Amino acid sequence: MSTAPIVQPFFHADSSTWSYVVRDPDSHAAAIIDPVLDFDAASGRTGTASAEAIVDYIDAHSLQVAWLLETHAHADHLSAAHWLRSARFPRARIGIGAGITAVQKTFRPIFNLGEHFPMDGSQFDHLFRDGECFDIGQLEAQVIAVPGHTSDSNAFLIGDALFVGDSLFMPDGGTARCDFPGGSAATLYHSIQRLYALPDATRVFVCHDYAPGGREHRCETTIGDEKCGNIHVRNDTPEAEFVRTREARDATLDMPRLILPAVQVNIRAGALPEAEGNGVRYLKLPIDTI
Ligand SMILES: [Fe+2]
Repeated sequence: MSTAPIVQPFFHADSSTWSYVVRDPDSHAAAIIDPVLDFDAASGRTGTASAEAIVDYIDAHSLQVAWLLETHAHADHLSAAHWLRSARFPRARIGIGAGITAVQKTFRPIFNLGEHFPMDGSQFDHLFRDGECFDIGQLEAQVIAVPGHTSDSNAFLIGDALFVGDSLFMPDGGTARCDFPGGSAATLYHSIQRLYALPDATRVFVCHDYAPGGREHRCETTIGDEKCGNIHVRNDTPEAEFVRTREARDATLDMPRLILPAVQVNIRAGALPEAEGNGVRYLKLPIDTI
């Protein structure tokens, strides 16, 4: 079995999101994690330039995409998973945490999606359970549920590389917010303790980096460095202190610019709503609701 995947990051500047291609060094097998569909809210236009950069990399290395992995239903960008599967990788499976059903139950009434919108996660090809293992070529991957930011958040441990989703940021960025519906700072604290139980040398790949202090954008650290230096939660930080810090910070944050378009699309595995009678797809803006 391979234990050290090749990891290629892709940065989406508009949402400060890191997407990744994870490759088995001993085969052509690969997974894509958290791909972004470009979206301009002012014009309502989608774009695939960011996703196509990933496709170019896949093609250049003759990779076979087994999985399109979502660490969670993102609130700040639209997922390109559906576009990648339908346009380029029909054999890839879109996977997300089983907690997506809770996210769908929260947001179906908010968007008034009605009875025909299933809340069983069936828009996805696979729902991951905590502790579930799967293969990417010769690489072994394990699912670690990390709720707190959202109910469906997962980390993926692939060989020695841990994709943490929105839980830990880079040490100087702290942690992900916990104030969305279904979020909980105490729950995130316990999720992070599970990640801190992994070996210090485990490579950590973050989902976002907002480049605090104007430094360059970074995507990789280690569990050891997080435990020593994370500004919100070090190895010895008590739960109550973390919850105080996290909740105080959350109270200062605005809603993400794209939360309404993003969640509506991402609970559908990245598929846009069905076209109406005139052939146009529409997104909804619930007024005075969230
Ligand atoms: Fe997120």
